[in-house]
Amino acid sequence: MEKNNKTSISRRSFLKTAAAAGAALTVQPAINRIKAANVALNGENVSSVKKDGMPHRTLGTGRAAFEVSALGFGVMGMTYNRSRHPDKKQCIRLLHEAVERGVTLFDTAIIYGPLTNEQLAGEALAEFRGRINVTTKFGHEVIDGKATGRQDSRPATIRHYCEESLRRLRLDVLPMFYQHRADPSVPAEEVAQTIADLMKEGKVQHWGMCEVSAETIRRAHAVCPLTAIQSEYHLMHRLVEENGVLGVCRELGIGFVPYSPINRGFLGGGINEYTLFDPTNDNRQTLPRFQPEAIRANTRIVNVLQQFGRTRGMTSAQVALGWLLQKAPWIVPIPGTTKLSHLEENLRTLDFNLTPQEWLELETAVAAIPVVGERYNAEQQRQVGG
Ligand SMILES: NC(=O)c1ccc[n+]([C@@H]2O[C@H](COP(=O)([O-])OP(=O)(O)OC[C@H]3O[C@@H](n4cnc5c(N)ncnc54)[C@H](OP(=O)(O)O)[C@@H]3O)[C@@H](O)[C@H]2O)c1
Repeated sequence: MEKNNKTSISRRSFLKTAAAAGAALTVQPAINRIKAANVALNGENVSSVKKDGMPHRTLGTGRAAFEVSALGFGVMGMTYNRSRHPDKKQCIRLLHEAVERGVTLFDTAIIYGPLTNEQLAGEALAEFRGRINVTTKFGHEVIDGKATGRQDSRPATIRHYCEESLRRLRLDVLPMFYQHRADPSVPAEEVAQTIADLMKEGKVQHWGMCEVSAETIRRAHAVCPLTAIQSEYHLMHRLVEENGVLGVCRELGIGFVPYSPINRGFLGGGINEYTLFDPTNDNRQTLPRFQPEAIRANTRIVNVLQQFGRTRGMTSAQVALGWLLQKAPWIVPIPGTTKLSHLEENLRTLDFNLTPQEWLELETAVAAIPVVGERYNAEQQRQVGG
C-alpha cells in the first residue's frame, strides 16, 4: 500500500511536472509572439497589445489610430492577378480560418476583379463586422464592372465608389478607405477633404494612400489625418526607406502597410524560371522582375533567405515577413494566400524573436546581391509616379 502510494504520488508529481512543462511549451510560442511582434529597430516604443493570442499593432495615432492584428490578409489573389483560384467556397472557408486565428485586417480594392474581390470579402466577412476590418481602395476608374485604365478621384466619384463599396462589402461604414493611385487632376488636399466629409457623415472611419510621395503625404495629412500608407516594401524593394516615405510616417505618426510583402510569392521560394503564370489572370507575367532571366538571377536572394532561415527553423516566407515586422511596431504586412498551410506558416512568423543584429546580417547579405528587373512595367510605373 505504502509502496503503491509512493508510486502514485511520484506518478502524480511526474504528471504535474509534465503538465507544467507542457504548459510552458505551449505558453512559450505565445510569449515569443508578443516579443517578436513588439521588437523594433531604432528603439521605438512598443505599440502592440495581445488579444486572443494574436499580437496587435496600431496604425496611425490620435483620432486616426486603428488597432489591427500584427499581420493582415491580402484578399486580392483570391480572385485577381495570381493565376488559378480556388472556388468561392474554399476562399470563404480560408477567410474564416484567418478570422479564427485572430486576423482582424483584410485588404481588398474595387479594382481587384474588378468588383469580384470586394464581393467575395463582403460575402465571407460581413458576418464578422465589428470584430474584424475590411479595408478597400478607390482611385482606378471602373465603369460597368470594367477597368478603364484611368484614374478618377474626383469628389463625386469617391462618394459614388464609397456607396458602392459599402454595398458590396455589406457594411454601414468602411473601416478604412485608401486612395489606390493618385489622380493627377485632383490635388491631394481635395481628396483628403472629401474623405474628411465622408468621415463626418459616418461613412468612413480611417483613410490611407498608396504609392505616394512624402510631400503628398504631408499635404493630405494636414487636411485629414492619415492612418496608413500602403506601398510595396520587402527585401527586394526598399524604395520607401530611401524616398522619405517611412521617415515621414515615423515623424507624423502614420502607420505603414507593406503590400506584396513576399514579393508576389517570389520570396516564398516556390517560383522558378519555368513557372508559368496564367496569361489571362496573373499580372506577374507582365512584370520585368518575373521574366525567366530575372527569376534565375534573383533566385540567389531567395537562397540567402532560405539559408538564413534554415538554422533558425524559419521558411523563407517567414524570414521575409519577420524582417518587415521588426522594422517598426507601426508596420503591418498583408500577405495574400489561397492555402491554409501558407496562412498558418505566415502567421507563425509571429513566434520568432530574432535580434536586431541577426536581421542586420540578413539585410546586408541580401543588399549585396543586385536585384535584376524592374518591379513594374512602364504603364504601372507611370501610375506610381516613376
Ligand atoms: N496597394 C497596392 O497597390 C497593392 C498592390 C498589390 C497588392 N496589394 C495588396 O497586398 C496583398 C498581398 O500582395 P500580393 O498578393 O501581391 O503579394 P504577396 O502577399 O507578397 O504574395 C502572394 C503570393 O505568395 C504566395 N504565398 C503566400 N504565402 C506563401 C508562403 N508562405 N510560401 C510561399 N508562397 C506563399 C501566394 O500563393 P498561394 O496562394 O499559393 O499561397 C501568392 O501567390 C494583396 O492581396 C493586396 O491586398 C496592394
